[in-house]
Amino acid sequence: MDLDLIGDLKRIVGDRWVVSERESVMDYLLDETPDVVRPKPSSCVVVVKPCSAEEVSKILKLANERKVTVYPVGGRTGLVGGSIPTRPGIIISMERFKRIEVDNENLMATLGAGVTLGDLISAAEEAGLSFPLHPGDEGAFVGGLVATNAGGARAVKYGVMRNYVKGVEVVIPTGEILQLGGKLLKNNTGYNLMHLIIGSEGTLGIITEVTLKLYPQMKHSLTLIAPFNSRRDAIGAVPKILQSGVTPLAIEYVELDEILKSAEHLNEKWPVERGFSQLIIILTDVSEDALYSQAEEIESLCKENGSEELVVAETREEQDRILRIRSNLYTTLKPDVCDILDVVVPPNRLAELIDIIEELGVKYGAKLPVYGHAGDGNLHAHIMKVDGRPPEYFEEVKRKIYEASVKLGGVISGEHGVGKTRIKDLGLVLSGKEIELMREIKRVFDPNNILNPGKVIGEA
Ligand code: LAC
Ligand code: ZN
Repeated sequence: MDLDLIGDLKRIVGDRWVVSERESVMDYLLDETPDVVRPKPSSCVVVVKPCSAEEVSKILKLANERKVTVYPVGGRTGLVGGSIPTRPGIIISMERFKRIEVDNENLMATLGAGVTLGDLISAAEEAGLSFPLHPGDEGAFVGGLVATNAGGARAVKYGVMRNYVKGVEVVIPTGEILQLGGKLLKNNTGYNLMHLIIGSEGTLGIITEVTLKLYPQMKHSLTLIAPFNSRRDAIGAVPKILQSGVTPLAIEYVELDEILKSAEHLNEKWPVERGFSQLIIILTDVSEDALYSQAEEIESLCKENGSEELVVAETREEQDRILRIRSNLYTTLKPDVCDILDVVVPPNRLAELIDIIEELGVKYGAKLPVYGHAGDGNLHAHIMKVDGRPPEYFEEVKRKIYEASVKLGGVISGEHGVGKTRIKDLGLVLSGKEIELMREIKRVFDPNNILNPGKVIGEA
């Protein structure tokens, strides 16, 4: 690493916030991407930990002048290699951006990019409000959740990150600091650059602060588990629930084998040991009576669709346990996974997609575990290692699942994004013109291609 550069970075953020020793740098090189598809990180990097947008701006101006590559990193919980530094350069860690300010009157929170999802949930609750979305790993940073437009469970009722973000402070690669949006519920002033930054996966700018919409406290909630003996029946119940007028916070689909393993991994007990296919339905309401009548409606819909007796979790503790076991599915499978897909189709086509995946499993003799956010049509399909290695059919099966999703009106990623690992499949979904426009946009923001290069849209 260039000693002049390290000296200049130290002058910007102070000596103790620049890390270049190999062992300490190693912690910043990886995320949660499965090892088989994970891009190879460069270890020739220096980690810088600024604490303000002004410091980020100075670092970017310096990097832009010297044409040094920069990688922003947050909680490193991504699954597509989006934050992995694939070239030598500077890693900007957002871990010191910890400001939290809750505005009860406007039901919003302004948060530093380094606030974790867990901190955000607690801060909202302490203020008597709630942040309903649960995009997985609670160690994820808010800046990353916005940069990747994270989704996860509990997106059915109020949407994904994009639907929560009202304001963003972002530093673009040439060093200018932009304040986009604000504590506003309506904003039609010009092109919406804020929504361009949301989901840009750290390629257009570094998010330093965000303003998110919160909701009144979820006074009452119930989690139902509906066990089905047929996948078709379970998935078939989802559009019926969505049409019923009851809008659950979440409708998750899991299969018994995997969810039991996840519970075991956490040393917990899963409450329902029957029914190969299960729906987890989370309901919330301000009135307890309304909540129980919604639960009855869901129960009869599930039963009409072939469900056995439902299990109802009422206590906060039990409901948290169910979500924790559900959220731990990927961690449990991860050591044996070649890749985790997060394809998305219109919710009423999900059963067809799962059938195709099942047929592929039979044809290739492959185990392809699935679970997902059924209420959003968003499915996680996994291609597993065989004897600890990727099987011959790995890429072919992945491609076939992508093709099937596109044919059913879907796309290749509903939540994890493109990052590095999915660039080669972008052409299945985006036209040449769309990719060209995206590359032009990248050039406008980042003329020297210094920020997270080669991610999302690849390189011409
Ligand atoms: C989940 C992550 C893997 O849904 O997206 O568990
Ligand atoms: Zn997910």
